[in-house]
Amino acid sequence: MEPITEIVAIDGPAGAGKSTVARRVADALGYAFLDTGAMYRASTWWALRQGVNLEDPGALAAATREMPLELRDADNGLQVFVGDHDITKAIRTPEVTREIYRLDQVPQVREHLVALQRQYGARRPTVAEGRDMGTVVFPAAKCKVFLDASLDERSRRRLAELQARGIAVDFESLRAEIHERDEKTRSRAVAPLRRAADAILVDTTHMTIDQAVETIAALAHAALNAKNN
Ligand code: DC
Repeated sequence: MEPITEIVAIDGPAGAGKSTVARRVADALGYAFLDTGAMYRASTWWALRQGVNLEDPGALAAATREMPLELRDADNGLQVFVGDHDITKAIRTPEVTREIYRLDQVPQVREHLVALQRQYGARRPTVAEGRDMGTVVFPAAKCKVFLDASLDERSRRRLAELQARGIAVDFESLRAEIHERDEKTRSRAVAPLRRAADAILVDTTHMTIDQAVETIAALAHAALNAKNN
């Protein structure tokens, strides 16, 4: 198989603005948008719903393989379906978020989801965001970005996002939870969050969304043009 290269890979920790920014970069470039966090979330939602023992990696992997997952890129954003269930909102609840770490470190779960991600990426030029896009899933991506922001800023953004959806949480516990999730993702044995050697660091702590989108779109244009010539 030809290496997949028509890919803009965006990685970074929770709350760095990856989803919002990646979607807008995809629109600006005319690329598809792939939110891989949504896939780990869907798997977690499915395992909880099926009553799978979250401490049993084999059962988690089997459930993930059986899950009839479908991502639909709609005008009003990404829609996530498992069979007939629209779980777009359900996968963003704190209950699901809390349990993801049990699945996201199971190699067979990742293998299955990584294969799906590569299928999506092979279909169309894609902006893919997650934790291991540049390091594992699309190592040959033409443009790799590591999107970061300070822990305080990321916590403020997550708080505003949850409040907008009517979910009440307090800042300190949210900040502690994000910090803990960061540590787990950075220190796990499988596909840990890290910047690929050829990824460009974009720190959005003091940037607006527009500025982040402009910065990455410019990087992507430069990388895509350079490698097409
Ligand atoms: O980006 P997000 O918060 O929706 O991601 C949810 C979780 O999924 C996050 O805690 C880490 C995990 N994840 C992963 O391990 N690999 C990815 N490519 C994307 C997300």
